[in-house]
Amino acid sequence: MLQKLGFHILNDITWYKPNAAPNLACKTFAHSHETLLWAVKDKKAKHIFNYSIMKNLDNQGDCFKNVGKQMRTVWAINSAPKSEKTFGKHPTQKPLMLLTRIILASTNDGSVILDPFNGGGTTGLAANIIGKRQYIGIDIEEGFLDLTVNRIEQVQKQKRLIG
Ligand SMILES: C[S@@+](CC[C@H](N)C(=O)[O-])C[C@H]1O[C@@H](n2cnc3c(N)ncnc32)[C@H](O)[C@@H]1O
Repeated sequence: MLQKLGFHILNDITWYKPNAAPNLACKTFAHSHETLLWAVKDKKAKHIFNYSIMKNLDNQGDCFKNVGKQMRTVWAINSAPKSEKTFGKHPTQKPLMLLTRIILASTNDGSVILDPFNGGGTTGLAANIIGKRQYIGIDIEEGFLDLTVNRIEQVQKQKRLIG
């Protein structure tokens, strides 16, 4: 659909979840990955890619990431831990580490980040933790926006404490 609409796909990334839940029915493989599509509006559109930051990023437990080597398109990141669900949870909440990597890779200071499917607000949270970015989140469910506000307020409180 993206390509039909004229978008140009830069990469598709496999997010592998080492801690994915087992398949209890045992009749198919255990689902343990999701696909990220990184696309621009058209072939000529410019994009941000912070190559060196990605190359030198700590592997943070990602068995596919070698520090100092080009970042590849398979990322091993566990699904969101309990510690990221202290204000309640969203059924498909993404891990902070995943969104932090995406934002560090593809935005700069001053970037405006839009997530039209905000959910639990992990994109906004990562943008706030990294800082110097503006975030706009949209969700059809008001409760998820409340959850997001609570999560972001906690980050801002911690930032004030650190000074
Ligand atoms: C996959 S979840 C996003 C999860 C999010 N990335 C996180 O880490 O928590 C998708 C969200 O999109 C919202 N949504 C679905 N259809 C929508 C629509 N038409 N307009 C706005 N939000 C919508 C759902 O309520 C859901 O919270």
